[in-house]
Amino acid sequence: MTKIPFVDLKAQYGSLRVEMNTAVLNVLETAYFVGGPVLERFEQEFAAFVGAKYCIGVANGTDAITLAARAAGLKRGDEVLVPANSFFATAEAISNAGATPVFVDVDPVTFHLDVELAAKSITDRTKAIVPVHLYGRAVEMRPFKALAEQHNLIIIEDCAQAHGALSHGQTVGSSGRLTCFSFYPGKNLGAYGDGGAVTTSDPELVKRLRILREHGSPVKYQHNVVGWNSRLDALQAAVLSVKLPHLHQWNAARRDHARRLAVALEGSPIIPPAIPKGDEHVFHLFVVRCSQRDELKHYLEEKGIQTGIHYPVPLHLTEAYQALGAPGRGSMPVTETLAGEILSLPMYAELSDEQIAYLISSVHEFIHTHKPAEAIAISTTAA
Ligand SMILES: Cc1ncc(COP(=O)(O)O)c(C=O)c1O
Repeated sequence: MTKIPFVDLKAQYGSLRVEMNTAVLNVLETAYFVGGPVLERFEQEFAAFVGAKYCIGVANGTDAITLAARAAGLKRGDEVLVPANSFFATAEAISNAGATPVFVDVDPVTFHLDVELAAKSITDRTKAIVPVHLYGRAVEMRPFKALAEQHNLIIIEDCAQAHGALSHGQTVGSSGRLTCFSFYPGKNLGAYGDGGAVTTSDPELVKRLRILREHGSPVKYQHNVVGWNSRLDALQAAVLSVKLPHLHQWNAARRDHARRLAVALEGSPIIPPAIPKGDEHVFHLFVVRCSQRDELKHYLEEKGIQTGIHYPVPLHLTEAYQALGAPGRGSMPVTETLAGEILSLPMYAELSDEQIAYLISSVHEFIHTHKPAEAIAISTTAA
């Protein structure tokens, strides 16, 4: 029997039921399903939340990155630096915009794109870079900004996992550049279906994004470019407007749970994630490293605790990118080592004290019965 699901969307709905039902019924009554006031309201609320001038709602987080890349003018032959450790969509969206993702290994502590390796991967075709605020931890953007200025690169931030994370006191997404969000149901801010958004403070980019999401059309039946059909529908916008005011509190609860779990694992062979100061991490995922990862996963499953692996196959080693000529095994040693060791434990605001205590005691039991070795020290030199 499942004692701790990996995510528990029913528990969150239970805490919002009355408000949520009213908001959804209101959309059904007004029958304004695509575009309209409910979407515009959410776009304004989310822009204000992240501290950007504009938010453009789109159909999902993948489209958010594709449309951002198109709006930034990326085209065939352009190279875009992306981390090898991310969800497939980070690279896929760049490919679908016509450009070529170039994979870069990640930092062994933050698991973020390694800025020094990124610098070494720049060629005269490199036009953009995609830092991913992975697992909910805000990327330290200053070195990326410096690199982008030096080489005239566009920065497209993938913030699919880090709604509300702060970097130097600023909410991720407030940079004024192109920041892309996913509202997939399990995200820290999740819709009841697919959804996504781009935030920016550049009015020229906003104009292009609005046209691109609407079949390249600024006015009905006038199509200036070949665009997309990628809109955030009113039902999802209504759901997100109900949830947004709770996001800070949910993120704070995730942080509390993460600190508790990290303290319980201190000094053990199961390495908890590094916890940065303040509100830089919103713990979309709580990812530990274990030399016997598969055994740990199986053990926890037997105890009714669901876990995940984010991500089991490094992006450059996926069949899709191998077929497109990505470098082979041994080229990204940090990502490749992590892929065999990382395990995401359940993490969401609604985890109860009892569930956390059960999770901790189950992991401790595993350590005592299996005595895993310390997770392998990661070498950052390519084989
Ligand atoms: C890092 C990252 N980028 C992009 C995406 C794509 O978002 P969506 O599933 O909404 O298309 C996701 C979603 O899982 C993600 O985790």
